[in-house]
Amino acid sequence: MRMILASTNRGKFQEMKEQLLPYGIDLIFGGDLPSPPYVEETGATYEENAFLKARAWASSAKVPALADDSGLEVDALGGAPGVHSARVVPGKDSARTEWLLEAIKDADDRSARFVCSIAVVFPDGRSPLAVTEYCAGRIAASPAGESGFGYDPVFIPDGYEKTFSELGVDIKNTISHRAKAVKSIAEMLRPVIE
Ligand code: IMP
Repeated sequence: MRMILASTNRGKFQEMKEQLLPYGIDLIFGGDLPSPPYVEETGATYEENAFLKARAWASSAKVPALADDSGLEVDALGGAPGVHSARVVPGKDSARTEWLLEAIKDADDRSARFVCSIAVVFPDGRSPLAVTEYCAGRIAASPAGESGFGYDPVFIPDGYEKTFSELGVDIKNTISHRAKAVKSIAEMLRPVIE
């Protein structure tokens, strides 16, 4: 089954495409759509935002659409930046990691978790699906590593001593919030697409 990713983030696309192929899902990059819909992420939860994006892309592209919405929740900041992770500070990813390290510089508790909701919407009225998964860890003292995107250079997943950026995509794709959510949604899709 062909399914469009409701996102123009190539990092997310690469993480998800390979993982979905064995389930018979051929993910198409949303950025290749001639005029991708603009969706304001006004939802109060990751799942609401994922549905906003999936609905808009499914009706625009006329194929099933898969959307993810994700974020980083830092305990010392009461769960911030959360659903605002992408926009908490304008500019590049590095501006946001700097903001985060400064915001928790005096905190003893550096625990955090990534959250990812995935929603799938069908243009033909079949029931939509959604799932939310987590990846627990802590915030590093300083950025390290090159791979990935967003807060990857400062996030150390539980069970490891290196950041996601240092661990690389192969390890990240087996333990991340997004990898877990993709696996769960693919299992839910199995009976729908067979
Ligand atoms: P959205 O899901 O595109 O609205 O934005 C999620 C934001 O959360 C990203 O822009 C990143 O800042 C952050 N984020 C979500 N998942 C990850 C990840 O796997 N690694 C690093 N940052 C992430």
